[in-house]
Amino acid sequence: MQPTREQRNALRAALRERFPRERGQLLPALHYVHHEMGFLADWAMEVTGWHLGIPASEVYGAATSYSELRVEPPGRRVVRVCAGLACRSSAGGLMDEIAAGLGAAAADGGVALEETACGYLCGVAPAVQVDGAWLGRANAQRVMALLERDEDA
Ligand code: FES
Repeated sequence: MQPTREQRNALRAALRERFPRERGQLLPALHYVHHEMGFLADWAMEVTGWHLGIPASEVYGAATSYSELRVEPPGRRVVRVCAGLACRSSAGGLMDEIAAGLGAAAADGGVALEETACGYLCGVAPAVQVDGAWLGRANAQRVMALLERDEDA
């Protein structure tokens, strides 16, 4: 969803008011935006990066490194497959297997399937994050079971 010009301007003004234009303000600013919006929309991360003079890719990288920060609207399920070296070498076609298991849920946007950076669970690779919680020695069946179990709860 694209923001209105007013939404962009309001966020710019709020960031100017609260956060000096310094790189060290990235995490406080992201936490502020997350608190205000309930998640970090792409456009909000862009505005935050612009304000702090930090490339959008770096802002996104920081946002996805902290499990308490969501980059998806609340209510949407998010599965992130670790793309780190240990996981890549042990995962085989895990991403494709999960995508096949998700089927229509991934296609209609109910579940987002993404890659993520190393979650520091290399000893139990391959690692997958489901709605912010890490799963070690992951396979497609375990990921599907976790998604279904949480839906039933
Ligand atoms: S490489 Fe996947 S957890 Fe480290």
